[in-house]
Amino acid sequence: MKAIIVYSGKGGVGKTTTTANIARLLAQKGHKVFIIDADINTPSMNTEFDSEHPQKNIWVHSSGNMFDKFIYLEKSMVRQYLEQAKKKLQQINPDFVLIDTPPSVTNVHIELLSRVKVSYVLFVTQPTKLSSQDVMRTMDFFHERCGKVKCGIVENMCYDTDERLYPIKLVAQIPMQDKMNTDSLLTNAEAEFQKIVDEIIVSESVVLEEYSTKNGYDESFDITDMYRAGSRRHYVAHELKYDNGTEKTLNLPAPKFLSVRTWDKVRKYINDYDEMGFHYDARVQNCDTVRVGRTVNHFNGDENAYFMVINSPNTEIHLITGEIGICSLLTGQKGHFELPRVSYQTSKGNVVLFPDEIMPVDMELLQQQINEGYIMLSDGRYLPPKETVLQCYNAFGTRVGLFDNWEKIYDEWLK
Ligand SMILES: Nc1ncnc2c1ncn2[C@@H]1O[C@H](COP(=O)(O)OP(=O)(O)O)[C@@H](O)[C@H]1O
Ligand SMILES: [Mg+2]
Repeated sequence: MKAIIVYSGKGGVGKTTTTANIARLLAQKGHKVFIIDADINTPSMNTEFDSEHPQKNIWVHSSGNMFDKFIYLEKSMVRQYLEQAKKKLQQINPDFVLIDTPPSVTNVHIELLSRVKVSYVLFVTQPTKLSSQDVMRTMDFFHERCGKVKCGIVENMCYDTDERLYPIKLVAQIPMQDKMNTDSLLTNAEAEFQKIVDEIIVSESVVLEEYSTKNGYDESFDITDMYRAGSRRHYVAHELKYDNGTEKTLNLPAPKFLSVRTWDKVRKYINDYDEMGFHYDARVQNCDTVRVGRTVNHFNGDENAYFMVINSPNTEIHLITGEIGICSLLTGQKGHFELPRVSYQTSKGNVVLFPDEIMPVDMELLQQQINEGYIMLSDGRYLPPKETVLQCYNAFGTRVGLFDNWEKIYDEWLK
C-alpha cells in the first residue's frame, strides 16, 4: 500500500481536483484507491465524489458526504474522524491511500502525520512566486514529521510548460482550463496525470499494520527506517554521567512519534547497529517495555509529573531511592515523545533518568506520602523517611539501586 499526501501551502491551487483525477486514473488501471478528505472543516472531495463508494475501485471518506452544513470539528472530533478513516482503511485494504489536505499547516496535519506513515508528499502549486515560496517553507515541516519521505511538485493551472526551478522534483505541469471548467481536465491532460501516477507508484510502500493505533499513540514510526534515511538522519547526543566518574555520549537518532510498541524497535536498533560503531548504553537495552509504557502513559498530556527515584546510577548528583521529584518528560517534537526519559531539575543541577530508574507517582499517593512524613528539601524534592527508603528498596528487588553510603548523604541533606 502506498500513502500519498496531497498538500499545498495555499488554498484553491487544485489539490482536490488533482487528488480526484489521480484516483480516477489509478482506479481505471485496476488499483483500489481510498481517498481521505482531510480538509475536514472545508471539505470539497464530495463535489468530485458524492458518496462513500462512488465507482469501482474508489472509496471516499469525506466529511462533506457526512454533514450537510458547515462544520467545525474540534480537536477530539478530528481525531475521531481520522480514526474512522483508519478503520475503513483496514476494511478496504486499498493499494493507494490518497489524502487530500487543507492548505497551510494545521492541527489536522499534525494529527494526521502522527497517525499515518507516508510514502509520498505531493505538493500542488500554481506557477507563481508566492505559491512556490510556500512549498519551500512547508517542506521542512514534512521532512521533520515524515523523515525520508519522497516529495514532488505538481504545477497546476499552467499557461506554459516553462521549466521553473524547485528544490524538489517537478513531476507534472497541468494546464489551465478554460473558464475553470475541469470536467474534461483528465482527458485533456492525461499524460501529465499519468506522470504523477508513475511517480507515486514507485514510492515506498507502507504496511497496513503500521496504521493501527492504541491510546492515540502513533505506531507507525519505524526507527530502522530512520537508519536507512541516511541524509535525513538527525542525531541527538545524550550525555550520560556515571557515579564512578565516567562520561559517555549516547548518539541516538531523534525518534519522533515514539510509541510504546516501537520501544522494542529502539532496543533492536541499538543492538543491531552496535557493530557499526554506534554507541549504546546497557541501560537502554535493559528497560522493559512495560515500564516504558507506564512512564509514557503517565505523562500523556502532562508537561510535568511527579516521579519517584528507584535507581539512579546515571547521575552524578546523588539521588536516594524513594525520593520524589517533579520532572518533565523529554520530548522531541512538541507533543510527541522522544525516548522516554525524564529530566529532573535540582538545585545542584539537572538529572536525566531512564524509565527503569523512575516510577511515576500520582498526586494522591504523593499527598499520602507527605502526610506520612516526607520531608521537603529546599530545592523542591521530597525526601522519604529512612524506613520508607528501605521499604522501597526491598519492594523493587534487583532493579533498585541504593548507594552504600546513602545514610550519610541523607543526613547531609537534612542539614
Ligand atoms: N487545471 C485547472 N484549470 C482550471 N481550473 C482548475 C484547474 N484545477 C483546478 N481548477 C479549479 O480551481 C478551483 C480550486 O481547485 P481545488 O482542486 O478545489 O483546489 P484546492 O483543493 O487546492 O483548494 C476549483 O474550482 C477547480 O475546479
Ligand atoms: Mg480542496
